[in-house]
Amino acid sequence: MHRPALLLFLALLFALAPQAAAKGRYFDLPPLPDPALYGNRLLNRSAEKNGVKPALFSHWLHRAKYTCRVCHVELGFNMELGTTEITEARNQHGEYCGACHDGKEAFGHTPDNCDRCHTGDLTAGADKFNAFAVTMPRTSYGNNIDWVKAVKEGKLQPKRTLLANPPQAIAYDKDLKLDAGWTMIPPAFFSHADHNLWLDCANCHPDIFNVKKKTTAHFSMRYNLDGKFCGLCHLRVSFPLDDCDRCHPAMH
Ligand code: HEC
Ligand code: HEC
Ligand code: HEC
Ligand code: HEC
Ligand code: HEC
Ligand code: HEC
Repeated sequence: MHRPALLLFLALLFALAPQAAAKGRYFDLPPLPDPALYGNRLLNRSAEKNGVKPALFSHWLHRAKYTCRVCHVELGFNMELGTTEITEARNQHGEYCGACHDGKEAFGHTPDNCDRCHTGDLTAGADKFNAFAVTMPRTSYGNNIDWVKAVKEGKLQPKRTLLANPPQAIAYDKDLKLDAGWTMIPPAFFSHADHNLWLDCANCHPDIFNVKKKTTAHFSMRYNLDGKFCGLCHLRVSFPLDDCDRCHPAMH
């Protein structure tokens, strides 16, 4: 191709598909589910082995009412599918799902409600998603909901605790500039304040990140894409890695 024609071609390519071009340049990202299903999981560590259908858990529905820390710190759910020992007996005892599904905080753990959880169907309840989503600030990826803005604008007030006397939250709001190892790539930014709206220090420190900037070993996009570091949440529940600019604001 002649040079001017080539430049025109490239300009058109970027004008028509800036996102696709940015994405395709470096990484193979996993396919994205429908926004209503992003973050939905079927729990089947032991259900089918014990004669019941897998239980549906939907992140969008629960995070509208509770912060991540309620479940992933106070109630002891792991951030890895199929690793928490949730059983019928423990639920009946008021642990795990039963901490809320007790007939007061949420519908009870009673025979008439077994099927509301044990649906075996990842799409059950998805019909309620759109009516909720239209009331929220929007984004282009994941659930297509800007969950940070929703809290900042007061559209959502997810509970931070279920405890009567919760420990005092630690205040820490340092913004970090995380330089990418590649010269052409603008840095990523990490806001402690935005994350602390949803999470607890213990969700990240010390298991995922060292408490000292730039000391976490193997912290790069390849590992993010493996579901580690930022990718632990930003592939599965929080807005996905496809949204390059939201972490690397100077990348267009
Ligand atoms: C609030 C949601 C919820 C409700 C209501 C519920 N379950 Fe479950 N149940 C779960 C989850 C989650 C698991 C763990 C699934 C897994 O990872 O395999 C589970 C696991 C089970 C298991 C397999 C583990 C074990 O303990 O043997 C059985 C059996 C079971 N439930 C029976 C019932 C029955 C019977 C009812 C109705 C009385 C019921 N469940 C109501 C969420 C629920
Ligand atoms: C009402 C409880 C609840 C809330 C609130 C909640 N989660 Fe979860 N989360 C769960 C359960 C249950 C699982 C599955 C655990 C298992 O199977 O062992 C899970 C699993 C996960 C996983 C692993 C998914 C996978 O495919 O391996 C991630 C990541 C995660 N949650 C992140 C979050 C984030 C981020 C938030 C807040 C925006 C959040 N969760 C809010 C209950 C909750
Ligand atoms: C922190 C509190 C909390 C925990 C923990 C929790 N839930 Fe819920 N859940 C709720 C609330 C509140 C609702 C909506 C209100 C209602 O329907 O009673 C709800 C609704 C649901 C629904 C929608 C059902 C329907 O018919 O509309 C399902 C399914 C469900 N939860 C499954 C689970 C499972 C499975 C677990 C455990 C893995 C779990 N929940 C843990 C609070 C919780
Ligand atoms: C969502 C994950 C996440 C949460 C939640 C989180 N942090 Fe961090 N924190 C990080 C990351 C990422 C780094 C940088 C690590 C690196 O570069 O190796 C960091 C670094 C730090 C540092 C070192 C900063 C520096 O300049 O060297 C401190 C101190 C810290 N965090 C304290 C906290 C406290 C206190 C809380 C709770 C109020 C908290 N963090 C919550 C992810 C988190
Ligand atoms: C433990 C889970 C978790 C980890 C690990 C995590 N995040 Fe997040 N992040 C969240 C949640 C929850 C939100 C709220 C938005 C959402 O869920 O879509 C968020 C939001 C953000 C936002 C949007 C802020 C805004 O103002 O809109 C950015 C940017 C971001 N994260 C960058 C990062 C980077 C960079 C890393 C790795 C250094 C990281 N996150 C690691 C859970 C996590
Ligand atoms: C959730 C936040 C987040 C998102 C979304 C994200 N990145 Fe990154 N990216 C980072 C962080 C943090 C680093 C720096 C890691 C380090 O400290 O070395 C990074 C580093 C990089 C690097 C440098 C090479 C490397 O492996 O460290 C490249 C290239 C890159 N990102 C490209 C992209 C592209 C292209 C997208 C969109 C498809 C994207 N990133 C989306 C957080 C993110």
